[in-house]
Amino acid sequence: MSYRTLDDLEDGQRVLARLDLNSPVSVGVVSDNRRFSRHANTVSDLVEAGHRVALLAHQGRPGRDTFVTLEQHADILEDHLDHPVEYVPDTYGQTALDAIRGLEPGEVILLENVRMTDDELPEREPEEHARSDLVTTLAPEFDAYVGDAYSTAHRKHASIVGLPLRMDSHAGRVMVAEYEANSAIATREFDGEVTMVAGGKKATDVIEVMTVLQDKVDNFLLGGIVGELFLRAMGHDVGRDIDENDLYESQWRANREKIQSLIENHPSDLVYPTDLAYADGNGERAEVTAAEVKQRDHDYLDVGSDTAEQFADIAANSSATFVKGALGMFEDERFSLGTVRVLEAIGECDCFSVVGGGDTSRAIGMYGMNESDFSHVSIAGGAYINALTGKSLPGVEVLKRDV
Ligand code: 3PG
Repeated sequence: MSYRTLDDLEDGQRVLARLDLNSPVSVGVVSDNRRFSRHANTVSDLVEAGHRVALLAHQGRPGRDTFVTLEQHADILEDHLDHPVEYVPDTYGQTALDAIRGLEPGEVILLENVRMTDDELPEREPEEHARSDLVTTLAPEFDAYVGDAYSTAHRKHASIVGLPLRMDSHAGRVMVAEYEANSAIATREFDGEVTMVAGGKKATDVIEVMTVLQDKVDNFLLGGIVGELFLRAMGHDVGRDIDENDLYESQWRANREKIQSLIENHPSDLVYPTDLAYADGNGERAEVTAAEVKQRDHDYLDVGSDTAEQFADIAANSSATFVKGALGMFEDERFSLGTVRVLEAIGECDCFSVVGGGDTSRAIGMYGMNESDFSHVSIAGGAYINALTGKSLPGVEVLKRDV
């Protein structure tokens, strides 16, 4: 791919780097997560090269509880970097400009949540964003832009597509690693079988990926809500709402035709759960075969142990496996078996493996697996889906233009 990277950047520049530090926030407290450690690699390389570094990032969206300042983010990033990161409570006003102009080589500042400005969020073409106050004010203050916010690259926001159009642009470490791994399934040819773990709660996203990749994938291992919807289509009494907070009925209606079409066109590529797990009256894990379910009266919270073994075997014998969604509610140890068993098999096999989606990848750390056992563990959500389905990412495209 034709973009310049940090390796093409001369030392000692004034650099503006766009990261994605968007994180879970609970009662105002920002949680540390792998976005900080990954972006710290990019920032650390910039510091070592003696650049004056200003960082731009966002958190949440206006109106949401997660829409907070980046003060805590600066502290968390500082811990990962083991190097000071000064929080500046302004994005491109006089306070920000003073802080930018006062930077010394190797110093790092984090500007205020860019989504607190009016210019950032409208979805606009790069040329239009490039004329915004945000872009015309910040761009002349720097020698180079580093695009590292891969997880936001599916958004046409000012700091993602407007700034790089006006500046000497380079892809950061996270951008390069994410883009190359995540687009591999849609673009690369593999010698052996390609397997996708299709699970989780966001069935609509996953079924869209399955539909687009139906001719590329040899085995779809079905679990989570996705698995239950496919079982329902095959006549089992699962995949139905049993209380008003369930996500089944609406996703069934939205995806029913796509599910039927996959069943008709790729019957031998769909691997259904043969057993399911639930909590019995004592709160213990219990299992039932899918064939035995006559009436849905339990929440099925994991695939059963036979299914876990069968899925692990298929994953272990594939040339490439990618994961979109967990096979069960792994946060509760009783229902972690399916997700963990299959991830362990993928980690042990000598195959190309990508685990995506913040939720599923949390299981890796929670259950003592090593990230280094996988080819790539993605930090992206929506951008991962776009990459898997071969859709272009505006924040990557605009970096390519520069070469
Ligand atoms: C993410 O967390 O997926 C990105 O930061 C994008 O956030 P958004 O969906 O609010 O645009």
